[in-house]
Amino acid sequence: MTDYLNEHCMHTATCGELRKEDIGREVVLTGWVWHNRDLGSFIFVTLRDREGYTQVLIDPDCVSAEEFALAESLGREFVLKVTGEVRHRGEGLENPNMATGDIEVLARKIEVLNASVTPPFPIEDDLDTDETLRMKWRYIDLRRPTMYNTLKLRHTVAQAMRAALNKRGFLEVETPILANSTPEGARDYIVPSRPNPGKFYALPQSPQQFKQMLMCAGVERYYQIARCFRDEDLRADRQPEFTQVDIEMSFVQGDDVIDLMEDVMKEVLEAAGVEASFPLPRMPYAEAMERYGCDRPDTRFGMELVNVTDLVRDCNFKVFSGAVANGGVVKAINAKGAGNWSRGEIDKLGAIATANGAKGLAWMAITAEGANKGSILKFFSEEELAALQAALGMEPGDLVLFAADAAEVANAVLSALRLHMADALNIPREGHNLLWVVNFPMFKYDEEEGKYAAEHHPFTMIREEDLDKIETAPLECGSYSYDLVMDGFEAGGGTIRIHNAELQRRVLRRCGLTDEEIDVKFGHLIHALELGAPPHGGIALGLDRLVMLLAGKSSIRDVIAFPKTTSASDLMTGAPSVVDERQLKDVSLALLEK
Ligand code: AMO
Ligand code: AMP
Repeated sequence: MTDYLNEHCMHTATCGELRKEDIGREVVLTGWVWHNRDLGSFIFVTLRDREGYTQVLIDPDCVSAEEFALAESLGREFVLKVTGEVRHRGEGLENPNMATGDIEVLARKIEVLNASVTPPFPIEDDLDTDETLRMKWRYIDLRRPTMYNTLKLRHTVAQAMRAALNKRGFLEVETPILANSTPEGARDYIVPSRPNPGKFYALPQSPQQFKQMLMCAGVERYYQIARCFRDEDLRADRQPEFTQVDIEMSFVQGDDVIDLMEDVMKEVLEAAGVEASFPLPRMPYAEAMERYGCDRPDTRFGMELVNVTDLVRDCNFKVFSGAVANGGVVKAINAKGAGNWSRGEIDKLGAIATANGAKGLAWMAITAEGANKGSILKFFSEEELAALQAALGMEPGDLVLFAADAAEVANAVLSALRLHMADALNIPREGHNLLWVVNFPMFKYDEEEGKYAAEHHPFTMIREEDLDKIETAPLECGSYSYDLVMDGFEAGGGTIRIHNAELQRRVLRRCGLTDEEIDVKFGHLIHALELGAPPHGGIALGLDRLVMLLAGKSSIRDVIAFPKTTSASDLMTGAPSVVDERQLKDVSLALLEK
């Protein structure tokens, strides 16, 4: 099965493949010393390579005195070549926890291919070492089987993506890394150009414009496993450079891209050995916001948001009725099982609410014993309370948390609290759950900048029925857009594109660009749309996030061979680093004094 692994190299078997059937075979193994047990008269060495572990028995009667002495001095992570015979371990000595646990290799010859100084941490899967240490010594970290298996899963997923797209007529095309800015909402990484003093490339935040150009070029179906660069605040699911499976298709409309991607995802998940049920649900953005308060809902558990605005509109609790009078909403979640939480425990939830923009956190509970609890109860009549409790499905043992605010704030607060309470109450979130969130609004209002911006990106097609609202009611414009959501993460996103030059201009103007700016920044795209652009659309999947979720990891750093820290540094190579004066001068730059 793994024969090809033993060709054109020093070994004739890997450390993971020998079984009972191999007993009697003469083999050559290579690998790292994982464990070394010196029993005086014998030495047991467990040899490790990427395929697994094999026990090697070193018996002084079977090797030379020098070799036995050498074996006595072996340290962790020494690199060995062992020639020997595969033997049964002996009755009752088998190790059922080891794939090769029935056998051992009786050494006849041992060679040290390389020594090793003591490694900075042991190569163990259940390692509890500081992540910065692991990142500094990344190649040692990657020797741990769990890390290798994740790299292998990433490879499997990428290959399955390629296979699924290849067989559907997609062409893999590379696009430039030294490029111009593409607006995906983050800061650009910029690179000075030596032959063009004062001018800079931007590393692509995505290949968005190039892939649209490929459609204009008639390529019809494109994909690329593309490296993207975004200078943004980093989190567990974000890296400054990351990988997209970037896809674009011509002559598509409506749900065509979603339908095709669903077939692709089915094949990819099968290859990764992960179960998920297809077809995937499609939830309009407005519904996701109403029921879960966010556009990437984790639908593996309930605790949905309940809108009680109409019930509290005229109540005596001014926090609620005042919010409604100001055009806001009152929504709540019912955390079943937290009804007996202490005031202190509930107060801590208030901090999560305020961190997400809330002015406070009102709550009420019914204890497990059936008593109503909460300081806001006094504001409600018996009938009002009964109606509220019925709407919220309240029973003994329930704690209800309220947010009264503008809809965006109330949603953000309750969405964060919902996830927090699911963790706090140990609500099971096993298995994988995928869905499409569709029909995002085309525009959002950027308070900070004081202007409208595209919700996805400005190349997104607006729903026909909303085309006349671009100038008059931008927030009411819907779009042909879709996000693939997995286990509460945005695993991918895409849209049908604008292929009409004039419509593209209108959208860019709505995003605050002057005609002159449009010509300078997007002239190439506008021209391409004027020169017979086909209707087209696409999507990009975040490969790192997808593999993170499939591997059950909590950070994308665990599925990237050489990741960066949250301050965008590579601890192994020391990047970023200072450059000398000469290099700066070459590109006509000088540093500002600190
Ligand atoms: P978008 O910006 O939604 O769309 O990106 C697509 C997917 O890329 C992943 N992703 C990231 N992964 C890790 N670290 C990051 N910093 C990061 N940023 C994004 C996410 C996301 O869903 N050009 C469009 C796609 C299109 O319209 O075809 C785009 O880039 O999983
Ligand atoms: P107050 O009358 O302002 O002291 O508020 C009474 C209760 O309502 C307290 O528990 C506050 O935390 C809570 N509260 C205040 N503002 C809001 C809000 N916008 N949404 C939900 N609860 C709030």
